[in-house]
Amino acid sequence: MQGKWILPFKAPGLLLQLITTRPPTDDMMEVAIAAFLRVKEMDEDPSLPETKFQTREKLSVLLKETKEAFSKEQIDESDAEWIYSLCLGIPRSELKNDKIILPSEREKLETMIAERLTGRPLWYITGDVEFCNAIIKVDERALIPRPETEELAALAIEEVKKGRKKVLDVCTGSGCIAIAIAKETGEEVSAADLSEDALSLARENAEANGVQITLFQGDLLENVTGTYDLIVCNPPYIPTGFIPEMQREVREFEPHMALDGGADGLDFYRRMAQDAPSRLCEGGMLLFECGEGQAEEICALFEGKKIEIVKDLEGVERMVKIIC
Ligand SMILES: C[S@@+](CC[C@H](N)C(=O)[O-])C[C@H]1O[C@@H](n2cnc3c(N)ncnc32)[C@H](O)[C@@H]1O
Repeated sequence: MQGKWILPFKAPGLLLQLITTRPPTDDMMEVAIAAFLRVKEMDEDPSLPETKFQTREKLSVLLKETKEAFSKEQIDESDAEWIYSLCLGIPRSELKNDKIILPSEREKLETMIAERLTGRPLWYITGDVEFCNAIIKVDERALIPRPETEELAALAIEEVKKGRKKVLDVCTGSGCIAIAIAKETGEEVSAADLSEDALSLARENAEANGVQITLFQGDLLENVTGTYDLIVCNPPYIPTGFIPEMQREVREFEPHMALDGGADGLDFYRRMAQDAPSRLCEGGMLLFECGEGQAEEICALFEGKKIEIVKDLEGVERMVKIIC
């Protein structure tokens, strides 16, 4: 049946408001009126397409819903904050305000939220991360740079500024460490990785950050030429058996070869202990990142050398400096 008798029933927002006890907000009224007028138009011209109407919702309400949805999927609630902050251009500390989310903003938010709910890591979705002084593009070709690795890069930069000018970054991945050093010091930096994919990303990142890095593709040092004052290395260091226990976003989305450090996680340090000293100039330094609880065992691989263990901001023994 068509005609004005049916009109009120086609205006769902208005009808709902009539039968609820809560008085409608201005937003609800606006939507109901718009829906009513649209239905009237549709009634007069049945060829008009269907239209979707939404109330504009408060940031705090939507954010709470997203956090709940994330928490059910074991996704860190802080990822919800990052998504809202990046989509809306609001600092995370100001997300508690009562900003009304516009339909266009909501669409953008919903796309990102749905993608995060598939398990894909937040930074692969956003496409880049800040790392020291650089913006590093990230995708499935390489590991997402971690905050503790910024501390490794900072230590390396300190050493370059003290005079260890010729630098090699082994296991470079996205190129983050090499790029941060080159950008900050202007010195000559080389980098190596076995993964062609990672190197293609490192190349794009070097270009985007306006630095030149010499790249070597190969198994650790096999294709690297020259000798260096400083070799910095954040190798894969997760014990193989621990990988299935890691968060889904890491084990299913980040490259396996960026994680697996062999049975005890120390395979790459053993190989570097064998091969790296001959690639260092006289008095050169090796600088490693390592996993929690690995530093002492790494030191044991370099017996007789001058060694220093450095803690990260969380108080974890995270970096090892070895003078060869
Ligand atoms: C833990 S990720 C570090 C990436 C980057 N340097 C960072 O800190 O974010 C380890 C890197 O080692 C690389 N890799 C794994 N096996 C390798 C090998 N045999 N020789 C050289 N690089 C290797 C991986 O491709 C990955 O990019």
